[in-house]
Amino acid sequence: MFDIHYHLLNGIDDGPRTQDESLALAEASIKEGVTHIVATPHSNHEFTFRPEVNRELLAALNARLKGRLTLGLGCDFHLSYENLEDLRRNHTKYTINGKQFLLVEFSDSSIPATTTDILYELQLMGLVPIITHPERNPILVHKPERLTEWLRGGCLVQVTAASLTGRFGRRAKSMSFDLIEKNWVHFIASDAHSMEGRPPALGEAHQIVCAGFGKETADRLCIENPGAAFRGEQLKVQPEPTGLYEERQREKRGFFKGIFGRS
Ligand SMILES: [Fe+2]
Repeated sequence: MFDIHYHLLNGIDDGPRTQDESLALAEASIKEGVTHIVATPHSNHEFTFRPEVNRELLAALNARLKGRLTLGLGCDFHLSYENLEDLRRNHTKYTINGKQFLLVEFSDSSIPATTTDILYELQLMGLVPIITHPERNPILVHKPERLTEWLRGGCLVQVTAASLTGRFGRRAKSMSFDLIEKNWVHFIASDAHSMEGRPPALGEAHQIVCAGFGKETADRLCIENPGAAFRGEQLKVQPEPTGLYEERQREKRGFFKGIFGRS
């Protein structure tokens, strides 16, 4: 399996503090069948993203792992003004392995109306935005239909493995299932931080998706799609999402009802 959202590097964000803690995470992932991990440190007001430091930490881990795991680099990219300004100067600084896929994390407190334009701008740069864990964002849990516009525009969605196991509560779990059911999800990733607080759970999530939706779906979300993102390849044709265009019809009906008093 390919885990494309993972706080693996030590001492740079709220992930592992020491190299031994990083290695413990890596060993746990190997045990659950993960072959590839993208190390994705935060880039936000709290943690500075330094590619050269990340590369050094990754090389040190690689030396200890001796080829038992293939590691890549990306970023847990928060959609802030400063990050966007920097991205405009260097389009691939934050992407998965310097290719086209970019993890995008929204703020928990506000998702401005300009977000749609920003996601479109990212695509004009040649990037493919991956919206990370909407099932853990309080605004999107309350209004999951906000995803429809971004999905129609070609954005992809990642849910957290531990949301499917119930670790983030009932609402995150039921929303994750609902999004997979509607084919709105393209990736499952662990977003692992530490063995104590947020251990990886991709193997368990894969089994849960296998049981609920079949092996083909589980493999698509945990192996095929994240594998394509790791290599910078286009995703294969995905199953038709449901409810994306019905939502737009509903919005239109609401609009006409507002003008003419009927739908
Ligand atoms: Fe993360």
